[in-house]
Amino acid sequence: MASKIGLAVLISGGGSNLQALIDACRDPAYPAEIRLVISNIADAYGVERAKKAGIPALVVSHKDFASREEFEQAMITEMEKYPIDLVCQAGFMRILTPLFVKHWEGRLINIHPSLLPKGKGTHGLKVHTKILGDGETESGCTIHYVTEGVDEGDIILQRSVPVLSDDTPETLAARVLEQEHIAYPEAVKLLATQYLTGK
Ligand code: GAR
Repeated sequence: MASKIGLAVLISGGGSNLQALIDACRDPAYPAEIRLVISNIADAYGVERAKKAGIPALVVSHKDFASREEFEQAMITEMEKYPIDLVCQAGFMRILTPLFVKHWEGRLINIHPSLLPKGKGTHGLKVHTKILGDGETESGCTIHYVTEGVDEGDIILQRSVPVLSDDTPETLAARVLEQEHIAYPEAVKLLATQYLTGK
């Protein structure tokens, strides 16, 4: 039986969640390894993080394709060159069409910086602006399966943080991000263990 599942990680930016996964995968006992990183943004710092860790990293820019589907098919073609068991969106800022979502159904997960369904349909700092505007006293992060409905797939794991009265979107984002870095490796470990043990 294989001792690790293979991950592809999709990014668009700084890649701090990618870094958390890279760090977790350094533990020989961790049941997953990153086999490919794809960024849709050429100068995303996450690409450097992958290269520094010796992980194959590619830029597949959505701007180079006439349609969303052609962009997604190009990513699928690259991913199929590796044994990939689980695809992790980590700050990947493109909404995926049914072509990609169906291809990876049940094997495609995302991290969202709020306690879904709160903050659904927004991304980045806008999520935290919405949570503050709604007067929430608690926020957090969610790891969930990706389905055709945006931010609607089954929840795998959540971690919460308090919202403080003097929070700005930036301070709340930073508090949530700390928890994201714990939650994403935890969620991947959970799914990898289920996969490897057949439970
Ligand atoms: C993270 O906070 C992630 O949850 C969020 O973007 C940030 C990426 O940071 N994702 C979304 O808003 C997706 N809806 P990172 O590049 O440092 O991992």
